[in-house]
Amino acid sequence: MCGIVGYIGHKKACPILIEGLKRLEYRGYDSAGIALLEHSRIEVTRAVGRISNLADKLPEKGSTANLGIAHTRWATHGTPCERNAHPHLDQAGRIALVHNGIIENYRTLKTFLERQGITFASDTDTEVLAQLVGHCYRGNLEQAVRDALHDVQGTYGIAVISADEPDRLVAARKGSPLIIGVGDGEYIVASDAAAIVEHTTQVVYLADGEMAVLTRDGLRTTTLDAVPVTKDVQAIEFSLEEIELGGHEHFMAKEIFEQPLSLANTLRGRLDVREGQIVLGGLAEHARTLARAKRIIFTAQGTAWHAGLVGEYLFEDVAKLPAETEYASEFRYRNPLIDDGTVIIAISQSGETADTLAAVREAKLKGALALGVVNVVGSTIARETDAGIYLHCGPEIGVASTKAFSSQVAVLAMMAIQLGRRRFLSQEAAERLIDALARIPDQVGEVLQQSDRIRSVVETLVERENWLFLGRGYNYPIAMEGALKLKEISYIHAEGMPAAEMKHGPIALINQGMPVVFIAPRGQQYDKVLGNIEEVRSRGGRVIAVATRGDNEITHLAEHVFHIPDVPEPLQPLLTVIPLQLMAYHAAVLRNCNVDKPRNLAKSVTVE
Ligand code: AGP
Ligand code: GLU
Repeated sequence: MCGIVGYIGHKKACPILIEGLKRLEYRGYDSAGIALLEHSRIEVTRAVGRISNLADKLPEKGSTANLGIAHTRWATHGTPCERNAHPHLDQAGRIALVHNGIIENYRTLKTFLERQGITFASDTDTEVLAQLVGHCYRGNLEQAVRDALHDVQGTYGIAVISADEPDRLVAARKGSPLIIGVGDGEYIVASDAAAIVEHTTQVVYLADGEMAVLTRDGLRTTTLDAVPVTKDVQAIEFSLEEIELGGHEHFMAKEIFEQPLSLANTLRGRLDVREGQIVLGGLAEHARTLARAKRIIFTAQGTAWHAGLVGEYLFEDVAKLPAETEYASEFRYRNPLIDDGTVIIAISQSGETADTLAAVREAKLKGALALGVVNVVGSTIARETDAGIYLHCGPEIGVASTKAFSSQVAVLAMMAIQLGRRRFLSQEAAERLIDALARIPDQVGEVLQQSDRIRSVVETLVERENWLFLGRGYNYPIAMEGALKLKEISYIHAEGMPAAEMKHGPIALINQGMPVVFIAPRGQQYDKVLGNIEEVRSRGGRVIAVATRGDNEITHLAEHVFHIPDVPEPLQPLLTVIPLQLMAYHAAVLRNCNVDKPRNLAKSVTVE
């Protein structure tokens, strides 16, 4: 999604804003712009494409302005072009605004404003908001923003400045994230802490329906109805170097290879191996409700949805709790049946996915207990769920989710064991699972050592435009995740499905040389998977298998085999996903794709 950065203080705003936009590049964008206020004039510069294009257009000598706002756009209304890029101005050119989200009633508002004689310079919904603020302006920017937002339907995270009020910056949010960095006589407002952390780790998280007025003397927060709101200053968890590449060519590579560490961080302090217990502080007050739940609904999008699908198997198998997995985008609109004893578990790396947030709100409206499994601390989903568990896997910058996925699965495994112990799981069985879980981070490191071999295999297949990923049981969701990884960063078409499902149609796709990846570790359905492999081989498919170390049987059937250590079936997804992440990464690099910022994709989809 787009990035917003605003600065008010005593330093030069321009370099801070441009550097802040660069910290947000990973979120995906198509154009960028900046507005700087000096000598009672607002100077706006916009550019299509990379932020470096914008920086190249800025005046050589550099601006001395110490108030400004900047934006990276992910177009929703109006093509990606210079005149549609933000910031947008009011007609008088005295007010500038940047926006993340969608003004849903922009047409109605635009018609009203055109009848007031206002002409528009762009095709965007955002300019309508900028013009509306200008129309409402009577010498008080805060009040003008308040009045304008009262007429707005939709979602927004905005930062606004006025040439007539050089001492303040106004910010507001509803449905799109905004964070305020608190400095010494300076403030930075941004859509993501990554743009703030090199200046300050002290932040204030704005909640939906809140506004902030930032001046060099202080910060004031209120509701949209001007009711004062007291906000706590919190500390950002991660450091700047965690955001940097750390010697890797891409963030995705860094995040794939840091999974031994990120998983160790996710498990840290939560596994009591000696007592055979799981300690999840965030759920303590709801543990009894959870253990007595009648139904668990996992809700998420994309990769997080695949984690939820693993969670469904985990909760039913380990905790004997009925569970299902729903796309949040479907759940929110289907008038879901929520009865007593229903618990919603929202899974989201960013904690800002619009559909997942809406699903949480719908579930809470209907009385469900809503839990969050989230990575970004202080994110909207983390704050709006009744309780939850943070992944603690560090910031995930690559658009394709990797370490967050494995941490999500690890959290769900811990939840299933903890709940299982409150229901039918024996102490001995729990201890076995916990002991195995404690070893997973090191075992992930072992699997990662196959990266070079995986790359050489992918090199022989990378021209093939259609792949299949097949798995059964716990590894069916991994087949889907492997397909998503491959298609979203290498643009190779891939489908993942239960291995048995292949016979009900997709087997028609198998032709000579088609790559088919089987996730086939030892387990209950291993022999069935071998049968599926034979079906593919007999039709000329090229079989790549992920199998259990020491399994010699499969080496006679598959052209290439990547191994994982032998672990209990419920924990296999944590290891079987690793070779698939590496396959996708190497395919994308070999096809010269933009690995960290795949075309058309954004890191966090904060619009519907
Ligand atoms: C993951 O590789 C994808 N980029 C995407 O499907 C992502 O998982 C989805 O948008 C959900 O994001 P979230 O976890 O931040 O809610
Ligand atoms: N809806 C606005 C536009 O299309 C904002 C999009 C964004 O969040 O970047 O310009």
